[in-house]
Amino acid sequence: MNNFSLEEQQRAIQQTNDDAAISKYCAVSKGYYNDPFISLFVKTKEKRQPLINRGTYARVQAVQLLVERFLHLTKRYGKRQVINLGAGFDTLFFRLRDKEVIWKGDVFVELDFPEVTQMKLRVFRQHAALYSLLTKDTDMKSFQETQDGLSCDIYKLIGVDLQQIEKLSYLLEQTCQLSTHAPTLVISECVLTYIEPQSADQIIQYFSKTFSFISFILFELTFPTDPFGRQMVKNIEQRGFSLESLLSYPSLRAQKERFIQFGYPKVDIKSMYTIYEDVLAVEEKRRIERLELLDELEEWKLLLQHYFLLYCLKLDMLQESEADELWNSFRFISKRCEEDYLS
Ligand SMILES: C[S@@+](CC[C@H](N)C(=O)[O-])C[C@H]1O[C@@H](n2cnc3c(N)ncnc32)[C@H](O)[C@@H]1O
Repeated sequence: MNNFSLEEQQRAIQQTNDDAAISKYCAVSKGYYNDPFISLFVKTKEKRQPLINRGTYARVQAVQLLVERFLHLTKRYGKRQVINLGAGFDTLFFRLRDKEVIWKGDVFVELDFPEVTQMKLRVFRQHAALYSLLTKDTDMKSFQETQDGLSCDIYKLIGVDLQQIEKLSYLLEQTCQLSTHAPTLVISECVLTYIEPQSADQIIQYFSKTFSFISFILFELTFPTDPFGRQMVKNIEQRGFSLESLLSYPSLRAQKERFIQFGYPKVDIKSMYTIYEDVLAVEEKRRIERLELLDELEEWKLLLQHYFLLYCLKLDMLQESEADELWNSFRFISKRCEEDYLS
């Protein structure tokens, strides 16, 4: 427990979005990866250590790789839906739209607290590059700005506290008119961990119960009880909030079992160390490892071992063999998984 009021905690949680955007901007400006949109969202051009830049690169690449795999594998099922929980200033929609891997007919929904979506909307209004991707091939009759969001046929930005499950379900199913049968991908990057575990569990369960073809990607911290983890938790708590779900699900095994328990029969989880070593492209790693000197190799390994990527699938309407085929093409193959559970 900490001594911060609820408002202070909520403000501190919202500010983690500024940190995430600055880290991404910093990694992009150092040449780790390409994102022509992130600079539009940051005012403070702070610097980050090489360790953080490299970690940001690994996280952004791994999540985008999975999202693109999902979109590729589900092409033949028609309309796809992506729901980015606590999206903050994430530019994923614009990157995917720019690469033309999502197109007319698909729906991309971004949700965050109204305070954050209002700021995102202000940035959209200031930059024609963003507006033109939003309005490209859009039926302008569907285009509508609200007080804290925006809606057009392909993209929706919505202000909501994710803990209000009934409101969340109303917004997705009634306001956005999402189909409960279309292939649907939920992304939660460093979001559910800020939410009280019971509510976070309800969110996970809501998606598996409501959507018949659903995948969930979760990127978060783990192992809070070893010395490195304890220090991480202490640093975070000093900022004014605690990571409730991290303490309730303190290992990769616990996170995996959580998703199985809440309705996803196919679940895979890997530490970012495994992802970095076994999944990310070797030539790209060689290139980015030359960008900045990184002396702290032991700390780099520890950092990666304390973050994970979980992804899962639940497919009600497919034959078992088709579901297995889809899962096998979706998942990352790695020889190192067992080590993850022992860390
Ligand atoms: C660390 S940031 C991550 C932003 C983005 N997912 C990314 O990876 O860049 C966490 C985000 O989750 C949002 N968030 C946390 N709890 C939330 C809640 N209960 N309802 C809506 N948004 C929430 C915060 O406002 C913030 O934008």
